[in-house]
Amino acid sequence: MGFDQYHEPPDELPARTRTFARLCASLTEEAEAIGWYEQRLAVEPDAVARDIMSDAQGEEFKHFAMDLEFLLRRTPKWREIAEGVLFQEGDIVEHGEEAEAEANGEDTSGGGGGSGDGSLGIGSLKGEGL
Ligand SMILES: [Fe+2]
Repeated sequence: MGFDQYHEPPDELPARTRTFARLCASLTEEAEAIGWYEQRLAVEPDAVARDIMSDAQGEEFKHFAMDLEFLLRRTPKWREIAEGVLFQEGDIVEHGEEAEAEANGEDTSGGGGGSGDGSLGIGSLKGEGL
C-alpha cells in the first residue's frame, strides 16, 4: 500500500501532519505528471493527441496549484518565503535567499542593497553560520 509519504510511524503522527504529508505527496505527483506531459508533448506529432495531452497537463497545473495553496495556508513560514519568490521579476536565487533570510528574522537591509548592480546584498550572508 502507498504509505511512502510517511517517514515516521503514521499512528504516532497527528491527523494534521498526516494530511500535510498526503498533500506534499500529491504536490510531488502533480509536478511529476506535469513533467511527463511536457515530455510527451515534446515528441507527439499528432495534433489531436497533443491537444488532449495539453488539456490534461492544464488539469495538472490546477491540481499542483491547489495542493501548493493548501500547504502554504498551513505553513506560514513557507508562505512567507514563497511570497518572496513567486511572481517576482529578477533573480530567482537572490529573491529566494532574501525571502529565507527575512523569514528567519535576519537583517537583509545592508551590504549592497540599492547599489545599482542588482545585488540585494545577499552574497555577504553566504557562508555565515556554516
Ligand atoms: Fe493531477
